[in-house]
Amino acid sequence: MQVLTELFEKNQNWVKNITDKDPQFFTQLAKDQKPEYLWVGCSDSRVPPSQIANFLPGEVFVHRNIANLVVHTDLNCLSVLQYAVEVLQVKHVVVCGHYGCGGVKAALGDHQYGLIDNWLRNIKDVHRRYATEMENLEEDAKFRLLCEKNVIEQVTNVCNTTIVQNVWKSGKELTVHGLIYDIEDGILKDLGVNATGLEQIESTHKMA
Ligand code: CO
Repeated sequence: MQVLTELFEKNQNWVKNITDKDPQFFTQLAKDQKPEYLWVGCSDSRVPPSQIANFLPGEVFVHRNIANLVVHTDLNCLSVLQYAVEVLQVKHVVVCGHYGCGGVKAALGDHQYGLIDNWLRNIKDVHRRYATEMENLEEDAKFRLLCEKNVIEQVTNVCNTTIVQNVWKSGKELTVHGLIYDIEDGILKDLGVNATGLEQIESTHKMA
């Protein structure tokens, strides 16, 4: 059996670094969490939200899956969203995608990968929606644009949930953001698709 020695050593060093600066850090944090952000990101090991945006423990509630999808039948993602906005009352929902996303790349091709094809199908649907806009692009430009469009679609999916619509109806402040991260230089970019209220939802998806 391989023991995870390195992992435990790293953990002890990390705890020491934090408690050297603030001996009460963990005792305080254990009492409560009040994160301002829900972050929906990709599972890719190169896009860890806490490092990218320099969050401390307690500052961000996180949901990650392959290609940062918000699927309207995904009880896991919806439960995270509901808990974050209703109980924790986060002020921002951030959907963060990234260039070079393996899930998006796979969805652009026709190779079968097994079970995951059903998950990637959601990205193929995004591709189909923007097919005309993308058809004349070079492969790399198409790949980058689909990574962006995928984020924009997931922002729409977040906004279309009754969960977010109900928060807006109650008059509470909540902004849904679409960001993209570049794994080649570490830079995070705002895609400019921020949503702050019911007027930004298409009438077909508005719920009474
Ligand atoms: Co990815």
